[in-house]
Amino acid sequence: MKVQLAIQKRRSFRALDKIEVTDKIISDLVCAASLAPSCFNNQPWKFIFVRKNELLEKFKTVVSKGNEWVFESSCIIAVLSKKELDCVAKGIEYYLFDTGLGVGQLLLKATELGLVAHVIAGYSHEKTKKILSIPEDWHVIALIAVGKKSKKKKIIGDESRPERLAAKYIYSIDEYSKKLNKKVTH
Ligand SMILES: Cc1cc2nc3c(=O)[nH]c(=O)nc-3n(C[C@H](O)[C@H](O)[C@H](O)COP(=O)(O)O)c2cc1C
Repeated sequence: MKVQLAIQKRRSFRALDKIEVTDKIISDLVCAASLAPSCFNNQPWKFIFVRKNELLEKFKTVVSKGNEWVFESSCIIAVLSKKELDCVAKGIEYYLFDTGLGVGQLLLKATELGLVAHVIAGYSHEKTKKILSIPEDWHVIALIAVGKKSKKKKIIGDESRPERLAAKYIYSIDEYSKKLNKKVTH
């Protein structure tokens, strides 16, 4: 699949059907993430693939209200990152930036494999760390629900891609632009 097509096809769908998440799928996703750039090639990440049914059941207590659609995912990836493993330059801590780059590639790879990989921030960090015995010094910076887009189930919001900021608000050439989307209030 061409990168441009994967970028266009990737969506955070919520209506999911179960699939078998094979070792090959996992290694393909990990490979895509691991080839992402990171500051000094520090790779400040770990990905825990949760696919055992008993564990997925436990994650029903982890996701926040409104994210119950995650119950239909076939695998949940806990994305871990650690500040001490990466650069801090001029006060900018790069561990979250770098891990996000890895996740971006993982999402595109999932799209190429015909899967949905939907990032969520609505979950309990404490419960995730407890269930997966994650040491204190790692941050669980996101969960990714993996499945296949359902052909039958419908969830409002899935039908069209959420609107993006118009290009004029997000880029300029050769100089800083003050233009801000008026809708942004925070
Ligand atoms: C860091 C992050 C946190 C998110 N948290 C949630 C969430 O808790 N629940 C949810 O349904 N979607 C969540 N999303 C998905 C976004 O809502 C979605 O990416 C955005 O609306 C754009 O839609 P698209 O990915 O289909 O293009 C999250 C995405 C990111 C990157």
